[in-house]
Amino acid sequence: MRSVIKGLGVAVPDEILTNEDLEKMLDTTDEWITQRTGIKTRHKAPPHVSTSDLAVEASQKALKEAGLDKRDLDMIICATASPDTLLPATACWVQAKLDVPGIPVFDISAACSGFLYSMTIADQFVRTGTYKNVLVIGAELLSRIANWEDRSTCVLFGDGAGAAVIGEGKEGDSRRILGAKLHADGAFAEFLWIPAGGATTPLTKEGLEKGLNKVVMRGNELFKVAVRHMTDVVFELLEELGVNSEEIDWVVPHQANVRILQSLAKRLKISWDRVVVTIDHHGNTSAASIPLALHEAIEDGRIKKGQKVLFVSFGGGLTWGSCLVEW
Ligand code: ACO
Repeated sequence: MRSVIKGLGVAVPDEILTNEDLEKMLDTTDEWITQRTGIKTRHKAPPHVSTSDLAVEASQKALKEAGLDKRDLDMIICATASPDTLLPATACWVQAKLDVPGIPVFDISAACSGFLYSMTIADQFVRTGTYKNVLVIGAELLSRIANWEDRSTCVLFGDGAGAAVIGEGKEGDSRRILGAKLHADGAFAEFLWIPAGGATTPLTKEGLEKGLNKVVMRGNELFKVAVRHMTDVVFELLEELGVNSEEIDWVVPHQANVRILQSLAKRLKISWDRVVVTIDHHGNTSAASIPLALHEAIEDGRIKKGQKVLFVSFGGGLTWGSCLVEW
């Protein structure tokens, strides 16, 4: 049995923060941000909006597209690096807001690879026949965990959410998950992390003043490993599935930096016009970036039935992975 993506939904806040807006807040320029990252604008949520609010909006749209009722859901997995609260899981807040009591729900903490980790877990539950419909969410309010005094990181991030219902597929169904590969290497945890606010280093007044409750990133070092790991995991997956990179119609990668994506496409020998790029208007939305990009390429007609769509991600942890879907 294969799992299929029965429905997909996204949500982004209305407010848009441009590079020109950032020029007024920080010692930066539109030119630097565009050249180094490819980002022009990103969405930013107002203070009253929670990560779970965006997650719920995306989930309701995904359920509607799937033609399912919320009572059809058997489980909810929420991938986020910017949870509503450390305890309980954001998935619990989503569950309460969706009003689907009783089913198991949990968060996945795998940074930008969170959506692929969650999809892969859902795929296992569906393929073993344990569950019929699993709601998978990637939702982030990265504007809340960005250090707005650190110009090398805060310009990168955006807010948004994407959700998919992964369910039992029947013979001949489209949007079939063909396979996935996941990896991690915790030895590099401090390449991208939030140093304080957990049990190891509880947040103190001093930590707060130093911004240790916000994202700290070693961007240069990450850049180099990101390209290598993403390339390797794609070839690993394609080899296992017996698929040639020339057969890939679309690559929908995690949107961290346009230069990373260009290097990736080159190494995979996949032409640039087959890569879905939304970083210019979304920024890096971590776990939400793949479903946001996927949704856009479906809506504008680029991704068509029967095409092979490759997802690939890399993020804090370090975590990385890839997944192939026949649309
Ligand atoms: N505006 C102007 N100048 C800046 C800015 C800014 N916003 N930020 C940094 N600079 C300066 C630096 O201070 C430095 O100046 P110096 O040479 O005088 O010291 C110079 O620009 C170069 O800085 P670098 O950090 O070397 O710039 P780099 O080209 O590496 O770009 C970036 C930085 C965009 C962060 C890049 O390294 C990157 O994208 N890395 C990968 C990030 C990634 O993949 N993350 C993992 C996924 S994200 C996740 O999991 C949530």
